[in-house]
Amino acid sequence: MTGMKVLVVGGAGYIGSHMVYDLLRANHEVIVADNLSTGRRSDVHPDAAFVQLDIRDRAALDKLFATHPGIDLVMHFAAKLIVPESVQHPLTYYSNNVDGVRVLVESMLAAGVNTLVFSSTAAVYGEPTLTRPLREDDPLAPINPYGATKRAAEELIAAAGAAHGLNYAILRYFNAAGADSSGDLGLNKPHLTHLIPLATRAALGMGPALTVYGTDWPTPDGTCIRDYIHVSDLTAAHLLAAEHLMDAGGSLTLNLGTNTGSSVLQVIDAVGTYSPCPYVTGPRRAGDPAQLVADSTRARSVLGWEPVRSLDDIVRSDFYYRKYHSA
Ligand SMILES: NC(=O)c1ccc[n+]([C@@H]2O[C@H](COP(=O)([O-])OP(=O)(O)OC[C@H]3O[C@@H](n4cnc5c(N)ncnc54)[C@H](O)[C@@H]3O)[C@@H](O)[C@H]2O)c1
Repeated sequence: MTGMKVLVVGGAGYIGSHMVYDLLRANHEVIVADNLSTGRRSDVHPDAAFVQLDIRDRAALDKLFATHPGIDLVMHFAAKLIVPESVQHPLTYYSNNVDGVRVLVESMLAAGVNTLVFSSTAAVYGEPTLTRPLREDDPLAPINPYGATKRAAEELIAAAGAAHGLNYAILRYFNAAGADSSGDLGLNKPHLTHLIPLATRAALGMGPALTVYGTDWPTPDGTCIRDYIHVSDLTAAHLLAAEHLMDAGGSLTLNLGTNTGSSVLQVIDAVGTYSPCPYVTGPRRAGDPAQLVADSTRARSVLGWEPVRSLDDIVRSDFYYRKYHSA
């Protein structure tokens, strides 16, 4: 499907900016709205229209929909997502991640735009004790305000679907990582918290040695297992979900992951292919599940989506982005 007119809120951030590039590559028209709280104006593709606004600002959103008539759907990436920050400032997180979604959905519905693709997270599952990959109908039990706000936003969206006919795709990403094939975009934050960029930075001598939190987990090599998914595989799923909704396929909630996890030591080995990654070991961190892996069978069967990029693709793209382009 080509020629959709898409509003990307949070399109100046890590995943949103990649989404904008891939929407434009697929010949869609893109408007980005972002408050630039963590995103960067320079990461917004020049062919996208840009409006600086906060999604909690109803008047600004109404004006945007009036100025850009004919928007087919909204893709939402405009959240705050740093877990320790959410523990310190929960009300800010509820305001941004829940009230922001409420105001956005109200403005959309008032403007006659009733299709939303929403970025959710594995954090809604909390600290599962299950050792198998997680399915969408497994219990939701977030253990921090970040995860709780995303679960609340999911509930809000589903309720708006039932009451007001909002068509939605809730996409629960596991560990997003990697960089765009152009080399122009990647994960670029002053305070990085994700394992792969911390590991590539350590390997490039751009940051301290990596700390491995716990080597006595009940996993084959004793380190935590996570499901790393390339950001471009995520954007591909968003495009398929948008097409599904535009084809009246019905609302859905899907996990996006690879069905297989990688341990911290496997990530360190993968980075070591490009340059040795120095690391130290530390104690376990509270709130870290041993294993968090997605069962993405539903996304594969409903959307025909298949993640095609490997851990090596993720690590390589992040390594070279950080080496050459992340200034
Ligand atoms: N990065 C991950 O590993 C990951 C994993 C699971 C889910 N997610 C979800 O993906 C989405 C995007 O994450 P990201 O990693 O790209 O984060 P990011 O911080 O890079 O991007 C968020 C963008 O939204 C903007 N924004 C935030 N609040 C806003 C508001 N109130 N109004 C307007 N703009 C606002 C920021 O300026 C930024 O450009 C989030 O919803 C997050 O919960 C991310």
